[in-house]
Amino acid sequence: MPQAPVSANPFHDPLRFERRIPPCSVLIFGANGDLTMRKLLPALFRLAYERKLPSGFSIVGNSRTVMTHEQFRQKMRESVEKFIENSPFDTALWEDFERGIFYVPGDLSDPECYAALKLQLDEIERDRGTAGNVLFYLSTQPSFYASVVEQIGAAGLANHAGGGWRRVVIEKPFGHDLASAQELNRRISVVLPERNIYRIDHYLGKETVQNVLAFRFGNTIFEPLWNRRYISHVQVTAAESIGVEGRGAYYQEAGALRDMIQNHLLQVMATVTMEAPPYFDSDAVRDERAKLLRSIRILKPEDVDSHAVKGQYGPSRIGNETVPGFREEKGVSPTAQTDTYAAITFFVDNWRWAGVPFYVRTGKRLPKRVTDIAIRFHPAPMALFSSSPGASDSPLAAPNLLILRIQPDEGISLRFQSKDPSGGGMKLRPVSMDFNYGSSFGTRTPSAYETLLLDALAGDSTLYTRQDMVEASWRAVEPILNHWNNTNFEFPNYEAGSWGPKASDEMLARRGHEWRIP
Ligand code: BG6
Repeated sequence: MPQAPVSANPFHDPLRFERRIPPCSVLIFGANGDLTMRKLLPALFRLAYERKLPSGFSIVGNSRTVMTHEQFRQKMRESVEKFIENSPFDTALWEDFERGIFYVPGDLSDPECYAALKLQLDEIERDRGTAGNVLFYLSTQPSFYASVVEQIGAAGLANHAGGGWRRVVIEKPFGHDLASAQELNRRISVVLPERNIYRIDHYLGKETVQNVLAFRFGNTIFEPLWNRRYISHVQVTAAESIGVEGRGAYYQEAGALRDMIQNHLLQVMATVTMEAPPYFDSDAVRDERAKLLRSIRILKPEDVDSHAVKGQYGPSRIGNETVPGFREEKGVSPTAQTDTYAAITFFVDNWRWAGVPFYVRTGKRLPKRVTDIAIRFHPAPMALFSSSPGASDSPLAAPNLLILRIQPDEGISLRFQSKDPSGGGMKLRPVSMDFNYGSSFGTRTPSAYETLLLDALAGDSTLYTRQDMVEASWRAVEPILNHWNNTNFEFPNYEAGSWGPKASDEMLARRGHEWRIP
């Protein structure tokens, strides 16, 4: 078996059996924002609870709001208490944890801010023994990303004289199209080498998405079927029942295709379809994902309408609640052309997948929150039992279906035909074999942010996206974005609480397929 190259990083353990994190600090830009409070601090505190963080571990928050260390700690405590999932809030642990929390207010465009941050980091290094290792986390408005990295460089924060590491995590979106993603990369790579840039896509950190690789490459029974000969088509669904939750202004510019498909869902699709890497190492895994993303067919402008459906929700009554349409949300223009729903038919032009449609859909205000991947196999070649009483006359009615349930009911189901014992005849009925995380493992699964933060601290970028992956996925969606940009849509075209516009069903019907109701 080929050997993975030996990593120069002694803390690098690609299989993550025993993560050892060296002493370090995390500096969060945008520390007063939603992501810090909902995700980052709860994840870091949970890692502390599991004794996965090194002694002296410290957090420095920065934003424009003027606050003392004490006020920031209090604010973080309140958000951790509110957002920590599936574990009690341990007061004694918090008291110890918060001794390592600091806050430095300052404006990101002001060099003084970085000088103050440097002083704070130096003091922490001296007092808490963090050895100069710093993970910068960019959770600011995306328009600041390039200049913050440049300022980090200008302030001498991108390197450490004593040999400590300096890494930068960049939240999505990485650019708003191909050209801006390339420009952002050009600017940040003047300051940092690729190995120190961590572009986060939290879907890759989800336990169930990681498990797709285990399922495919840790078993022998599915992989031989994993190709065009056996698979008819694949449906990737990421439905959300919530609306835009106060993010109207951001979302109006982004839309569903940019917000979910360009990044999260194309990464999920690449995980389902990529070839096996020769070994489990960050570049080997990412090479395969990148190769797959590059094989996605780039649509011609004249093909966009038949391969892509854009939707926007209108008002509705769901239960006893009156739900506003997207155009009535705060911060949204009453004539917004934004997609709150997108469904795309992708093709992967390679030997394994030629001709297999990958239907990818996502939307806000759909009937429920569910993300899954449904792999539909070809029907049996002969309808041997087609005249059995009560059974459908065609085996097409219930082909084998493998469902990888990403969230919230995490697991895997395989649907197949079985003889129905009632009635005595050869009457068939689809049944299911199910694997559930809860019942099989009985342990809590770590949140994506816990996994990804720990990985970045350990210097493992396997689950982070690389520039070539980001560019390939922009290339795949760009013709759709351009075409949509030049078209005027009659919106709204689906009711809040429904499964999206009719055109989406029609898109699948043209190939003889239909959306599964997850
Ligand atoms: C974010 C999007 O990246 O992912 C949000 O910006 C979306 O609009 C969220 O709601 C979904 O993440 P999850 O983990 O809740 O499925």
